[in-house]
Amino acid sequence: MGFFSRFSRDMGIDLGTANTLVYVSGRGVVLQEPSVVAIDVSTRQPLAVGEGAKRMLGRTPGTVAAIRPLRDGVIADFETAEMMLKHFMRQVHGGKTLVSPRVVIGIPSGVTGVERRAIEDAARGAGAREVYLIYEPVAAALGAGLPVEEPTGNMIVDIGGGTTEVAVLSLQGSVLSESVRVAGDELTDSITQYMKKVHNLVIGERTAEEIKIRIGSAYPNDDYDAVTMDVRGLHMLSGLPRTVVIKAPEVRESMSEPLSVIVEALKRTLERMPPELAADIVDRGIMLAGGGALLKGIDTLISHETGIVVHIAADPLSCVVLGTGKALDNFKQLDRVFSSHAGGL
Ligand SMILES: Nc1ncnc2c1ncn2[C@@H]1O[C@H](COP(=O)(O)OP(=O)(O)OP(=O)(O)O)[C@@H](O)[C@H]1O
Ligand SMILES: [Mg+2]
Repeated sequence: MGFFSRFSRDMGIDLGTANTLVYVSGRGVVLQEPSVVAIDVSTRQPLAVGEGAKRMLGRTPGTVAAIRPLRDGVIADFETAEMMLKHFMRQVHGGKTLVSPRVVIGIPSGVTGVERRAIEDAARGAGAREVYLIYEPVAAALGAGLPVEEPTGNMIVDIGGGTTEVAVLSLQGSVLSESVRVAGDELTDSITQYMKKVHNLVIGERTAEEIKIRIGSAYPNDDYDAVTMDVRGLHMLSGLPRTVVIKAPEVRESMSEPLSVIVEALKRTLERMPPELAADIVDRGIMLAGGGALLKGIDTLISHETGIVVHIAADPLSCVVLGTGKALDNFKQLDRVFSSHAGGL
């Protein structure tokens, strides 16, 4: 087998709490799907994976379960996670099963040994020949185009679905990092709780996420503070469906607690910083990645709280997978970015 064909099947994977993305050498990002699997409860067979399964969340009859196999950035349901990974890896290779590629996979920096093992095992179970792990903030920084191999401090904040990862990187490694299990999912949950408490309205996870994306914000702004949204749900007192009109500022207020947890994690990292690196960060600013970077006003909130310039990555949702791809394609030069590898070369 030739050099190119061997490498062309190799993959970089961002197995995220909310979304899974796959990069294939020479082809780029070939898959981006929600990390959701719908299974037949009696046979345990998958009925839909990805987008199709996400549409079923909260809408399944008793015979079908729509499952998000990852929570807080790590595998919560092993069997389903492996099933999902296998499905996506096959999809990428056009249904061929005889591939056992080298896989680079992102892991949150706060994972335990057991959680790390679970991710490796799932990738192997899904057909990976060699599994290399890379810390997600390192991958995110690579994918955002930060010069992580230089002796300069670079700060990356990846606000995903399950975890917020804050890291200061230099010379391919993480000098300081902080990982909190508060991110986009908690922002969504806060909206659900708020709707229940203040409007007596029960809404599903999908609706709450839609509110966050459409009218949610992290910092006041005249442009979007005037916006309202009609929200449909189940009224708790009458037990009947009802539409409630909500305003952008109340959505922001409902998310203030998880937002402050995220900002505090960032501040803690800044406070622990060695002075030379602190000077670099002041010069270069903070880079935001992950879906949470798309929340309106999050850059303004962070720069207001820290006094440091904040940049949003060009494609926040793809940073980690693009970084795993860069690590895969520059395997020798970027050898120190890997946190470990399972299986010999
Ligand atoms: N426009 C938007 N505004 C606000 N939040 C958004 C927007 N788009 C996506 N999100 C949120 O971003 C999160 C998903 O981001 P991302 O895909 O980076 O997470 P992930 O990598 O799957 O999770 P993790 O890294 O924690 O495992 C979700 O909580 C989603 O609601
Ligand atoms: Mg992520």
